[in-house]
Amino acid sequence: MAYEYDLAVIGGGPGGYVAAIKAAKEGQRVCLVENAKLGGVCLNEGCIPTKTLIKTANLLHEIRQAERYAITGVDPAQLAVSMPALQKRKQSVVGRLVGGIRALLRNNKITLMEGSAAFVDPHTITVNGQSIRAAWCVIATGSSALLPSFIDRKDASSVITSKEALELDRVPASIAVIGGGVIGIEFAYLFNRLGSKVTVLELMDHILPMVDEEVSDLVRKRLIKDGVSIRLGAAVHTVQDNKVLYELDGAQASLEAEVVLMAAGRVPNTAGLNAEGIGLEFDRAAIKTDAGLRTNIPNIYAIGDVNGKSMLAHTASHEGIVAVENMLGRKMSMRYDAIPSCIYLDPEVACIGLTERQSREQRTNVKVGKFPMTANGKSLVEGDTDGMVKVIVDGDRGEILGVHLYGKHVTDMIAEMSVVMSLEAAPDAVIHAVHPHPTISEALPEAFMALYGKAIHSL
Ligand code: NAI
Repeated sequence: MAYEYDLAVIGGGPGGYVAAIKAAKEGQRVCLVENAKLGGVCLNEGCIPTKTLIKTANLLHEIRQAERYAITGVDPAQLAVSMPALQKRKQSVVGRLVGGIRALLRNNKITLMEGSAAFVDPHTITVNGQSIRAAWCVIATGSSALLPSFIDRKDASSVITSKEALELDRVPASIAVIGGGVIGIEFAYLFNRLGSKVTVLELMDHILPMVDEEVSDLVRKRLIKDGVSIRLGAAVHTVQDNKVLYELDGAQASLEAEVVLMAAGRVPNTAGLNAEGIGLEFDRAAIKTDAGLRTNIPNIYAIGDVNGKSMLAHTASHEGIVAVENMLGRKMSMRYDAIPSCIYLDPEVACIGLTERQSREQRTNVKVGKFPMTANGKSLVEGDTDGMVKVIVDGDRGEILGVHLYGKHVTDMIAEMSVVMSLEAAPDAVIHAVHPHPTISEALPEAFMALYGKAIHSL
């Protein structure tokens, strides 16, 4: 039977819309189904809005520090952030980007269907009662904040997720953040800078699970210095409205705050798809895929948060490209060991690959090189020398296993390591590539030289 479309994409976030455009550029007839907002969580209630709010928080901090930078005439006591105006700016940034995606879809002649898709069979989906058939399908339905069963739902008016936190039209006096992962820590940073009293409750003995512990320890100390309270080893077990009950060191404790932010992870969105009905296999709550993004049903691919592999917008977009390449018969695989992660605090955090602990669990000869930002000229110029570069290498093979950065502008620096690691290049590639002066990026070759005790600008 003929198909109306070569590809039906379910979900218009950074995974789905990229897959749709890539396929259209390859000459395929594409339809994209979206049941909420084009751009998904990333554009509408994730990456972009958070960074817009964080930009203002950073700027406020810089202006408060004017005198340090020889600027007179600024009275820090007079400074204030207008939350309604900030929400308006956020909306305008989001609006421009969403409008851009709409235009890209139109220009690529992609049919946009607004509604929820459900599978009838592997080649047929229904949207708003209309049935469409496609040769290939990509599921890119994303994820939602995990709301654990320990939240008393009758009494949860003070409990919010990152979605609502981005919509606040006032700065809460106090916030209890449950979870010290990326979401919890970015919001803790943001609201602390805006003037809330912030307490983070984290189950593990360190924050930011994907970041090397030595680096995440520096980040934690800096957040504490800046005014955030962080309780490690705190297992939250009950939330009743604005009261959080937790266990710490075997004792029961409680915390009350104006707002409770849940940031204890996210879960893939699969409800209503009839994924089980057509026989798609799951890996816990996620749709199971191989490194080529194929599910167990040959014409269906799953990309982005819904496959649970790496819940990051840039992973989703790249998976979209890889999935389409594979549909078209070109063999491509994702390399999940070389995906960068960026955390937008000030200073910033960025990492790729394994932590030192993970490297030592997997390899017998692990070498570590470090370089402190105190020895980097540009960090001094910027006025903030907290942070370091830490590189982790397999001493036998010279393979770069992980790179962890903490410092000014490092989220713009990690891409270099993405290229180096994708090319499977050795430390010498970084050491002998000339890095411009004065930049924070000079700290990278220094850390690699430190592997051999030969960093130039440290003792
Ligand atoms: P996460 O899984 O990164 O962190 C959740 C944290 O909550 C963990 O450290 C966990 O130990 C803690 N936790 C869980 N249950 C707890 C309890 N009962 N009591 C106390 N602590 C508890 O999840 P998060 O931060 O919600 O992020 C979800 C996903 O979104 C992640 O994959 C993250 O990488 C991604 N993301 C990435 C961003 C970025 O790269 N800038 C920004 C936002 C999200």
